[in-house]
Amino acid sequence: MSDTSYRAVWDRRSSDDLAALEAVDNSGSEAVAQATGQRAASAIAQAVALEPEDVVLELGCGAARIGRELVGRCGQYVGTDISPNMIRVASRRLAGYDNVRLEVLERTSLSMIANDSVDKAYSVAVLCHMDKEDLFLYLNEFARILKPGGLAYVETWNLADPVGWERWMYEVNYWQRADHSQRKDVARNQFCVAEEFQLYAERAGLDVLVCFRDSPWLQMVVGRDLDATSRKHHRLRLAEARSEIAYTPLFGQLFLDCIRVIYGDIHPLTALKSLEPMAGRPEAELYRIHIQGLWDQDPDRYGPPPESQGR
Ligand SMILES: C[S@@+](CC[C@H](N)C(=O)[O-])C[C@H]1O[C@@H](n2cnc3c(N)ncnc32)[C@H](O)[C@@H]1O
Repeated sequence: MSDTSYRAVWDRRSSDDLAALEAVDNSGSEAVAQATGQRAASAIAQAVALEPEDVVLELGCGAARIGRELVGRCGQYVGTDISPNMIRVASRRLAGYDNVRLEVLERTSLSMIANDSVDKAYSVAVLCHMDKEDLFLYLNEFARILKPGGLAYVETWNLADPVGWERWMYEVNYWQRADHSQRKDVARNQFCVAEEFQLYAERAGLDVLVCFRDSPWLQMVVGRDLDATSRKHHRLRLAEARSEIAYTPLFGQLFLDCIRVIYGDIHPLTALKSLEPMAGRPEAELYRIHIQGLWDQDPDRYGPPPESQGR
């Protein structure tokens, strides 16, 4: 029987700390979560022009993979999530910080957050795991809670990108083989094209500043009630910071290799070998840590990882 609510799915995937890290981005280890969290945190900080006194809200904070890397850089970090288990893990990983507020969400609403109370907001790998109605409701909530002039960063899968399309085909093929008497996984991956994603934001009353679309992910930066001067300022700023925010095509390509490892289409050794000619490139280093982490987690499936073979 499939889970019937977002909470049930994500709670089941986060029964302990390691399971939670695996659920958030297939990290499965503290070291990998920190490496990927730092990359995401620095891109988000650039995207929303993070300031040290900002109140920052994260929708779907999970295990605070990103929050842990941002909390020291803002005035207050507000992590919200539908899964009480995820919030428990986040709370353990954020212990020691006194500028943290964590909230378990009961439904698709940020009702415990006051109107006009948040400087910056963001959500990574969350809006792609829900129905479009929920995605739109959350964008409306961002428009409500952001202060006038506030900024938010959101992302989802980009169906128009070749790797994005290939990722979607995993969903199609999975469903083709699935038991059609059961409903689809409520938290399955869902996809948008840029025009659709932007339309939801605009109809939610947000100003779309940019939507990067040259990778499997649509990365949108939006603002609330921006005047013409600050809209122009942020657009210029985002164009200049593009290389620090937008995923590169190489990042997308390597992501696909990672997915192929997870779905059993290639062995981690094949993926690691294909990274060797790219040694030194930041994308290759991140994915090396990631693929190595996948192998370390599951020696029963892949055989002993390289370290234990004395490499
Ligand atoms: C793939 S994880 C990403 C976690 C975190 N953003 C990160 O990048 O590490 C998705 C997270 O979104 C949360 N989530 C899923 N559906 C949600 C919903 N409808 N409302 C709020 N949170 C949700 C899950 O509990 C989970 O923690």
